[in-house]
Amino acid sequence: MLSVNMVAMAYLAASILIILALKGLSSPVSARRGNTFGMLGMGIAAMVTLQLDAVQNYAWIVMAIAIGGIIGGVAARKVPMTHMPQTVAFMHSMVGLAAVLIAVSALYDPQAYGIAAIDGGLHMASRIELFLGTFIGAITFTASLIAFGKLQGLLSGKPLVFAGQHWVNLILGISMLICGVIFCMTQAWLPFLLMLAIALMLGVLLIVPIGGADMPVIVSMLNSYSGWAAAGIGFTLGNNMLIIAGALVGSSGAILSYIMCKAMNRSLINVLLGGFGGDTSGGVSSQSAGSRPVKAGSAEDAAFLIQNSRSVIIVPGYGLAVARAQHALKEMVDVLLKQGVKVKFAIHPVAGRMPGHMNVLLAEADVPYDLVFEMDEINSEFSDADVALVIGANDVTNPAAKTDPASPIYGMPILDVGKAQHIIVVKRSLSPGYAGLDNDLFYMDKTMMLFDDAKKACEAILQSLE
Ligand code: TAP
Repeated sequence: MLSVNMVAMAYLAASILIILALKGLSSPVSARRGNTFGMLGMGIAAMVTLQLDAVQNYAWIVMAIAIGGIIGGVAARKVPMTHMPQTVAFMHSMVGLAAVLIAVSALYDPQAYGIAAIDGGLHMASRIELFLGTFIGAITFTASLIAFGKLQGLLSGKPLVFAGQHWVNLILGISMLICGVIFCMTQAWLPFLLMLAIALMLGVLLIVPIGGADMPVIVSMLNSYSGWAAAGIGFTLGNNMLIIAGALVGSSGAILSYIMCKAMNRSLINVLLGGFGGDTSGGVSSQSAGSRPVKAGSAEDAAFLIQNSRSVIIVPGYGLAVARAQHALKEMVDVLLKQGVKVKFAIHPVAGRMPGHMNVLLAEADVPYDLVFEMDEINSEFSDADVALVIGANDVTNPAAKTDPASPIYGMPILDVGKAQHIIVVKRSLSPGYAGLDNDLFYMDKTMMLFDDAKKACEAILQSLE
């Protein structure tokens, strides 16, 4: 059994490791190291918590670890990278649910949690903490489940909007606060359960008006909420580790949401109020797609163009992830490098469907980090590039973001692909990307469309190059 001081020291070490993990995860070069720090920090935190006096029954804990571990292990192996956003949403819902369940059991038996006052009730501070932890946890739980449903395609990605929606939310929010205040004053179950029910309802109502395209930002916001819910419960349990880890998750999630909004030129309020980016699977929404001529070419044409270039900038997008084309692309790049072609990758901050999506794919295929450049670093180089090879990317190259004030993505920074001497776009059709918009880049004189699955196209180009 560790002394109080040793527990505090161990928690401090775990907190430092988790901070180092966040720092490591900020760059692909140090991400593996960051993951190791994170696992080590969480491992220490869990081991130290398990040996605390308060933990008396190991059977349930071992059972929970076994069941959770098996589910987590299988999911980690099976879930494809493109399904990561919904997996993360589901995990957040579990964090929210855990926060609610801890609050309910702490209210049921304060003694067991060591938070009982002399009369057996709860101190005012504990009641407030339980109130905060419960309503944030409950909103996180149902909101994350709806986000999961939308991202998984179980629910429509279209924003669900009805008249008076904001008023309903406002009235429910105020009612929830009133119930919370009554609970804090009386410690009675009825206002607590009413507050919980309203928070669960609010979680659903706050998310249904938000369109599919904004879901990743919402998932990141919910990540932040789940962190704050955990921190709130940390206060209730008097557990410093939970407070620190929760606050780190809360603040990093909030910062990430801000960065994502900035990269899409959207305000967070605009995202939270919803409406943008409904279900685009129905096809091209713009008037001109399909009615304007495009130049289509073959893999051999693309190989010829690339092989005769000095410099090529590759722009990967969501389609690369869908096709799992990263390994074929890496082989193609290896051949080009051997043949003396200068190759660089240009990464847009919101390419794909989650932050760092493209970096993860390229790292998986062992693409050297020194070939990979962020948008700000490489945008000025497109005008010197002989070929810009766009693979499965669309919105992040759409010139309308710069030229068309009426476009929903107007103002979003884009990769300046249009400035390259030649452009090759690999995708299966003229279908739009996530924003549901046609892309003028496809119709430029210097653009050649290679209509194929990204993996098949890379393999075919590779064959021609060899
Ligand atoms: P998108 O604009 O979504 O375009 C992806 C393109 O890939 C589609 O046009 C699709 O065209 C093509 N594609 C799909 N499967 C393919 C396959 N097997 N082979 C080849 N091509 C395939 O992708 P993007 O340029 O990466 O932009 C990302 C979008 O997601 C932006 O609008 C961004 O705002 C949004 N978003 C991103 C994030 C984060 S954090 N990354 C968060 C929220 C929203 P075809 O069907 O014709 O093949």
